[in-house]
Amino acid sequence: MWRRVASLSPLVSRSKPSKLSQEACTFKVWESFSSESHIPTPPKVTPFITFVLGGPGSGKGTQCAKIVEEFGFTHISAGDLLRREIASNSAYGSVILSTIREGKIVPSQVTVQLIRKEMESSDNDKFLIDGFPRSEENREAFEQIIGREPNVVLFFDCPEQEMVKRVLNRNQGRVDDNIDTIKKRLEIFDELNWPVINHYSKTRKLHKINAVGTVDDIFEKVRPIFAALSK
Ligand code: ADP
Ligand code: C5P
Ligand code: MG
Repeated sequence: MWRRVASLSPLVSRSKPSKLSQEACTFKVWESFSSESHIPTPPKVTPFITFVLGGPGSGKGTQCAKIVEEFGFTHISAGDLLRREIASNSAYGSVILSTIREGKIVPSQVTVQLIRKEMESSDNDKFLIDGFPRSEENREAFEQIIGREPNVVLFFDCPEQEMVKRVLNRNQGRVDDNIDTIKKRLEIFDELNWPVINHYSKTRKLHKINAVGTVDDIFEKVRPIFAALSK
């Protein structure tokens, strides 16, 4: 049986986060069935991390669902984790809610610790981290707290008009899917997300995907990226 060994730190630590080693990001160890005192050296699993970027309504969540179905990744949506915090009436819920209403970015410490907790509680070793990093600060906090860089970065490139249309039709009762908040989210996207995309465009990790077309058309462009990984 597999079990987790990494302990979870509090959601927001007052102390400066320490840089975790690669080893600290190895979430699973083999638990010996044997009652002997000799415990075999645990095999180490380094998670495969995909960041999924794109503006509001660009189709990140929709494409993630298809990647999960075909390639067995675990989908971690930063926005969903934040909304779950609000719904659970956590200590940070009201601050997160007002930040989301304003279309602004929640402090990275909060978001990264939620992502970390989710990764640690998963038995999978392949993750899609959707809607993250939303800023250079998000990106740096992940590197510092998790001690890892992504293996692959997807960027769903979608014109503003199309994103606005999709968000206004989303119909999931989200407090931020209204025209005023969408405008703010698009401004934040321009100001804070682009530097992250530019950062990864200097690496070979970034896959820019034209996000206009049907869901299936777009997935045809996504599939080869993941199919190539299993070769
Ligand atoms: P994001 O996670 O990037 O905000 P979603 O995946 O939630 O975007 O998609 C936003 C809305 O647009 C949803 O209602 C979804 O069903 C719809 N949608 C997603 N992809 C497409 C597409 N290729 N064409 C038209 N509508 C789409
Ligand atoms: O990705 P999603 O559209 O679900 O994000 C909704 C909101 O959650 C964002 O507009 C932002 O306010 C917040 N968020 C954040 N930091 C992230 C992801 C989402 O603050 N990394
Ligand atoms: Mg989404």
